[in-house]
Amino acid sequence: MGRIIAIANQKGGVGKTTTAINLAFALAQPERKILLVDLDPQANSSSGLLAPDDLRAARQQKLTAYEVLLADADPQRVFCKARESLYLLPSGPDLVGAEVELASAARREYRLSDLLARSRDDFSLILIDTPPSLGLLTLNALVAADAVIVPMQCEYYALEGLSALLDTLKRVRQALNPRLAIQGVVLTMYDARNRLSHEIAREVAKFLPSELFETVIPRNVRLSESPSHGLTALEYDPRSAGAEAYRELAAELLARVAGTSHAILETPPPDGGESGPGPRKWGLRALFARSGERARKRAGG
Ligand SMILES: Nc1ncnc2c1ncn2[C@@H]1O[C@H](COP(=O)(O)OP(=O)(O)O)[C@@H](O)[C@H]1O
Ligand SMILES: [Mg+2]
Repeated sequence: MGRIIAIANQKGGVGKTTTAINLAFALAQPERKILLVDLDPQANSSSGLLAPDDLRAARQQKLTAYEVLLADADPQRVFCKARESLYLLPSGPDLVGAEVELASAARREYRLSDLLARSRDDFSLILIDTPPSLGLLTLNALVAADAVIVPMQCEYYALEGLSALLDTLKRVRQALNPRLAIQGVVLTMYDARNRLSHEIAREVAKFLPSELFETVIPRNVRLSESPSHGLTALEYDPRSAGAEAYRELAAELLARVAGTSHAILETPPPDGGESGPGPRKWGLRALFARSGERARKRAGG
């Protein structure tokens, strides 16, 4: 039965969609079928993954998240094959109206959950990209999900936003979905040369030592260029720092889901090496060590 993971943060522009499409692609394997559900009316995941013609065709046939949530379309008919082993439930602008229409619908918080209950056996993992708000669409994602991944931009007010989101998760757990867990917080747009990026990372690591992913996503221009080509960064430039980091995040996520990973920073892995398979270039510990070296050089030590 596929684990359902919502990618959520009520702030816009923090890297939800970038994480959704690159993580989904990195996870997809012949033995691991992945579904990405695009619940954002802005449809950035859909246009970042599908060619314009394919997306137009899907919408013309009325096969989008809107029909599934509000018109009881058969989910088997609406999943587009985006890549080998990677399927997409696309979004469209009509989802804006869904927020209002859902308000008076029966089981309005459970529409997506009911739908995915019928499809989760067909996938190893289901990721849900959500809009930058805590309205009914995001609520549907949080009610359907087993866990949440929170992308967090390394910037000044990030921690305040994080507390608000943690509050919301607590309330959703109490009222609607007691099994909702935090799969992890992932730092995005990390700039190794920027002291603030650094300080935020340390703060979050102190605040949520076991939730923070060891993998950090660097600021990388390939990640912002690739969607306009309908490609993930892993296809557009597989050797780019962004692609590497998302491959590492996928490996770390799989280890967490399998229950084999350890809390970061607090507990070193048993063998004293880095966690996960292969050397970790985008691990927090490695990044901190490198920046420490740079600072010592600057200080003439
Ligand atoms: N690690 C990154 N490096 C560079 N640009 C990024 C990175 N992550 C996201 N972006 C860019 O920042 C903008 C916002 O990212 P996006 O993933 O769309 O955020 P959200 O879905 O949370 O609104 C987009 O233009 C995206 O291409
Ligand atoms: Mg988005």
